[in-house]
Amino acid sequence: MVAFADFHRRSIEDRDAFWSEQAQLIDWQTKPQQICDYSNPPFAKWFVGGTTNLCHNAVDRHLADRADQAALIFVSTETDQEHTYTYRDLHAEVQRMAAILKAQGVTKGDRVLIYMPMIAEAAFAMLACVRIGAIHSVVFGGFASHSLATRIEDATPKVIISADAGSRGGKVIPYKHLLDEAIRLSSHKPGKVLMVDRKLAPFTPVADRDLDYATERAQHMDTVVPCEWVESTHPSYTLYTSGTTGKPKGVQRDTAGYTVALASSIPHIYQGKPGGTFFCTSDIGWVVGHSYIIYGPLIGGMATIMYEGLPIRPDGGIWWSLVEKYKVNVMFSAPTAIRVLKKQDPALLSKYDLSSLQALFLAGEPLDEPTAKWISEGLNGKPIIDNYWQTETGWPILTICNGVEKAESKFGSPGKAVYGYNVKLVDDQTGEELTGANQKGVLTIEGPLPPGNLQTIWGDDKRFVSTYWSTVPNKLVYNTFDWAVRDEDGYFFILGRTDDVINVAGHRLGTREIEESISSHPNIAEVAVVGVADQLKGQVAMAFAIAKDTSGLTDDAARSKLEAEIMKVVDTQLGALARPARVMFVTALPKTRSGKLLRRAIQAVCEKRDPGDLTTIDDPTALTQIQDQIA
Ligand code: PRX
Repeated sequence: MVAFADFHRRSIEDRDAFWSEQAQLIDWQTKPQQICDYSNPPFAKWFVGGTTNLCHNAVDRHLADRADQAALIFVSTETDQEHTYTYRDLHAEVQRMAAILKAQGVTKGDRVLIYMPMIAEAAFAMLACVRIGAIHSVVFGGFASHSLATRIEDATPKVIISADAGSRGGKVIPYKHLLDEAIRLSSHKPGKVLMVDRKLAPFTPVADRDLDYATERAQHMDTVVPCEWVESTHPSYTLYTSGTTGKPKGVQRDTAGYTVALASSIPHIYQGKPGGTFFCTSDIGWVVGHSYIIYGPLIGGMATIMYEGLPIRPDGGIWWSLVEKYKVNVMFSAPTAIRVLKKQDPALLSKYDLSSLQALFLAGEPLDEPTAKWISEGLNGKPIIDNYWQTETGWPILTICNGVEKAESKFGSPGKAVYGYNVKLVDDQTGEELTGANQKGVLTIEGPLPPGNLQTIWGDDKRFVSTYWSTVPNKLVYNTFDWAVRDEDGYFFILGRTDDVINVAGHRLGTREIEESISSHPNIAEVAVVGVADQLKGQVAMAFAIAKDTSGLTDDAARSKLEAEIMKVVDTQLGALARPARVMFVTALPKTRSGKLLRRAIQAVCEKRDPGDLTTIDDPTALTQIQDQIA
């Protein structure tokens, strides 16, 4: 084993040699001529001159050695389905889906939007897109019409692939009417909509637009669709994420850099081996699902489990029963899910044979010590490894790379900077680097961002630069918008966002988006949304709203009615995941004299903390009102 410090140092100081070695983990049609072109910072181009294909690396290249090995294990406790697709099966299904897309005129560079539940067809769809060089944009199935419409508008897809419904806790969640409404709201109209009919929720197809997947698939049972070799820098997908402003950003990923980064992460971070089984409990609508349900494990020649259902249904042992049944080696989840399991009978953990499991990785939000301890004890001391990363980066920024050198985790810390990442803590006011131990600063990454990270924001290079690279004074560095400290051993501790992004049950939400949605209610004049600490979900959104007409809001029943109406608005526009835990009514919001909303002060009051310096507050009673509401 190499010492991790040397491995990391080499990745920065001898960058091109390091990544040229990692590039050997994947198949190329044409080898790259240049490893990294950073002549136009902050835009990095990786593996310039090479051509490859993401689907080839995830599927086709394994056919020679592992055609009959499990590739995709689909398990739904919602519809009681369980099916294993071998690499041979997956190859066939992906080609069928690719043939359908090609028959609709989808070619290299065209966008395809995928709005689907966690079903195998969603995996086929993603792989089919990258197979033919089309750029997919998966939208989380929990998003509603307005969120979906903004993404359709921005991605301008030629085809949308969807399904009649998802299902959650045994409750059917129809998708089709939300999609139809989103297309109606969007100025861009897709040419075709390909519908996977699970027969969960009846729907009426739109004539000349909607296609039935089963019918189309039957036309292409044996159609051969070769992989389209694309340039290394060809976009593989976009994935929308929230930031400070209301408009979501389309994170754009390349092809070769992403493939190499994931191929390298499987052995070095996850210690996954070809033939092993990876179980990531995320959703394909999130970055973790892209990287570690679909692409990472398949690139690594592993079997991947795609699970539709709750972690506690039929009971809290369901995930562990899958670990036993499919001999899962690597498991990846989120602290929120573990906090949900923690409320169940602990005996459910010891009921199953978990000997195959090497480690449990957790990501997406801070891992609190009681949760880490509970699961560590439940898994008999197996390593619990925290991963810190972002939609933008595509793979971990901070963690413990046990595949390079075994190291101890520290509670509350996701670990050290991962190889490839030149992480710097800086002072948010001066941009000065903070090199001492335990100094709080903004976590930044020096360019070039390593392979796999975002290339730009879809269609908006300017926004890429202004959002991420121009917000630290006097320095061209990538801003993660997270506060952090580093201890004397180089372990980082994440202390929360520097911007208005909140994290509800591992879902990243922009408070501005929620505010915009609430403001669309006809009786709302103004609103502030903040994230407030929550035992189970990490954070929940709390809204404080000023009604235009308060004459009817004289009693609790009237306020509750308006609160329910507002929640309904958020549900139908953004989706239930963005719904605030409470909407409370006030007559003023705390602002500075220049009119800036004092969100931090509101948040502090909600969390019963000291609101800090209030010398700039315009109307102190505004904060008192919030205090009274919370009490
Ligand atoms: O604030 C950090 C938090 O989630 C943000 C990124 O969210 P998202 O784009 O959805 O990507 C999730 C990919 C795992 C970060 O800016 N975050 C993510 N992981 C952690 C975390 N906070 C603390 N600890 C983590 N391990």
